[in-house]
Amino acid sequence: MTAQIIDGTAIAANLRAKVAAYSADVLARHGVVPGLAVVLVGNNPASQVYVRSKIKMTKEAGLNSIEHMLPETATQAELLAVVSALNADPSVDGILVQLPLPAQIDADAVIAAIDPAKDVDGFHPINAGRLMTGTGGLVPCTPLGSLKLLQSVRADLAGLEAVVVGRSNIVGKPMAQLLLAQSCTVTVAHSRSHDLPAICRRADILVAAVGRPEMIKGDWIKPGAIVIDVGINRVPDPAKGEGKTRLVGDVDFTAASQQAAFITPVPGGVGPMTIACLLANTMTAAAKRRGWPDPAL
Ligand code: GUN
Repeated sequence: MTAQIIDGTAIAANLRAKVAAYSADVLARHGVVPGLAVVLVGNNPASQVYVRSKIKMTKEAGLNSIEHMLPETATQAELLAVVSALNADPSVDGILVQLPLPAQIDADAVIAAIDPAKDVDGFHPINAGRLMTGTGGLVPCTPLGSLKLLQSVRADLAGLEAVVVGRSNIVGKPMAQLLLAQSCTVTVAHSRSHDLPAICRRADILVAAVGRPEMIKGDWIKPGAIVIDVGINRVPDPAKGEGKTRLVGDVDFTAASQQAAFITPVPGGVGPMTIACLLANTMTAAAKRRGWPDPAL
């Protein structure tokens, strides 16, 4: 079998276009441009790349981008003061504090300080609890995007065996909750799991979010599975030349493509969906807070 590739770039562009259409509509109806605030602390190069991309896509979707860049030496009190001002600012619909934060800052305390109604990352314990209890709330962008990719190839996931490899608060745990809410039978595997290949071979749906390049091998994939590769790992690529690199996922794509029915590529799979879902969450948050109809993105 040669897997069909799930085109995250195209699906994300489609979602961003829906956000842009809703944004144009609320501008015409209410004279309001929803705002997304992004807070970056320090000089982490990967974070700088992500944040630049988020700001660009925010503007392209017709949303207001509010940017706060703090130095690497910023204190927790300084960051909490920024969050507090954004919470109180009625023109701000979404707040994202880019992670990781420098060591002197307690990330959990910062996340807990964000107004849950503006927590477009869905990391606040209130939103995590709402996801667990199925009571609404904002859902973390990467798992939400991964679910949309799954649903693009199979509308009804009920009864399927889903294996999530990775147990982070950002991806693994919320992904498991989303799949459970779709009536999958969910296993969360991780670095301490015994016989990971055997666990993966059970999966009709395999979500890889471990952050280890090409760790999941082709013969770990059940024939006909749907494979969602969340990993984005930069590895040396001597074929391209000395010092050159390329991006690979957590799955050995070439080998897995021979087993799976559907697979996401890296790049061009989950990555673009994360930012598209961030914009969608900003619209959802804006609509709820301002009393507009749910955009149903
Ligand atoms: N760092 C890596 N992924 C994310 C994300 O989804 N949100 C935030 N705020 N920081 C991140």
